Amino acid sequence: SKKIGILTGGGDCPGLNAVIRGVVKSAVIRHGWEVIGIEDGFDGLLDINKCRPLTLESVRGILPRGGTILGSTNRGNPFLFPMEENGRTVHVDFSDRAIENIRSLGLDALITVGGEGSLKIALELWKRGVPVVGVPKTIDNDLRETDFTFGFNTALETATDALDKLHTTAESHHRVMIMEVMGRYAGWIALESGIAGGADVILIPEIPYDIEKICQAIRRRCERGSRFSIIVAGEGAFPIGGDRLVAKGPDERNAIERLGGIGQFVAHQVEKCLEMDARVMVLGHLQRGGSPSTFDRALGTRFGTKAVAMVAAGQFGQMTCLKGRTIGTASIESATNALNTVDPDGEIVKAAEDIGITLGR
Ligand code: F6P
Repeated sequence: SKKIGILTGGGDCPGLNAVIRGVVKSAVIRHGWEVIGIEDGFDGLLDINKCRPLTLESVRGILPRGGTILGSTNRGNPFLFPMEENGRTVHVDFSDRAIENIRSLGLDALITVGGEGSLKIALELWKRGVPVVGVPKTIDNDLRETDFTFGFNTALETATDALDKLHTTAESHHRVMIMEVMGRYAGWIALESGIAGGADVILIPEIPYDIEKICQAIRRRCERGSRFSIIVAGEGAFPIGGDRLVAKGPDERNAIERLGGIGQFVAHQVEKCLEMDARVMVLGHLQRGGSPSTFDRALGTRFGTKAVAMVAAGQFGQMTCLKGRTIGTASIESATNALNTVDPDGEIVKAAEDIGITLGR
């Protein structure tokens, strides 16, 4: 019999509870194992009081629920744990304590459900001898070695629904409506929701945009009688020769961020070059909230059961993945050593351009 630990790290994401339920149910029903839920991501590994048994009872009814019953945090890196010291933040390596706690809990394996950041931490723990299995999670879909991460599909549904709604108000007021979506350095959410939601312009970090091209496209639409336009901007998009919007952190602010993000920046540019009203809607954390889609519930469940199967087979340092229609395993190292971003010359971008969507180039 085995005892496995599970934690959810980094930003929350629709489908996390489906993974937890998949892990617990298959561990208990298929193998008769015990599962320990570690609360608040890697923080929980530093505090044994944050670890509790997960039973079939604990996961009842959680499949359609957003968020994670285990809690999550972006801060908790045991190798670089932030502490206040004389009014400033210092980073302390608490990995020994984390590893000690894993041992004292008697865990035979640690399932880490996370995006790039959390999986990199999991990899470090694995290199220190912890038997780790990863499950790729992020709405951004920016992990390599898997066709999809869970959460992405739900985020797309939310973004597409928002675009449908924006259309009717944009049309009524003859406005340029800009919707800013998440995705960090990858344009997957912008590109696919933009196609699905009938956007006229899609801006992604992988293709620096030329504001002139955007304005030309909007002018052409006006000439043809469409006096409104919809722009979807990935949060990491940026103009040719301009500042790239960097993810987070007070030291990393640039012109785009100071204007309140790429959406505001584009609105400002569009109003300057066209005599049209522009409005911005930042979709934000709505993309991470709510009930997971059918696809993400099924994918999360399959990832969860696969992770348990990997523990049974002793496949550590690896993560679950989806290739085509098949669930498989992939190395965490190669999944996280570079990001999965949109190919500017790939088929999806071409399909968008074939139907007249402008990507600002
Ligand atoms: O990685 C997921 C994500 O939602 C990104 O799309 C976004 O840039 C970031 O997390 C936001 O993080 P936070 O919730 O910490 O603001």
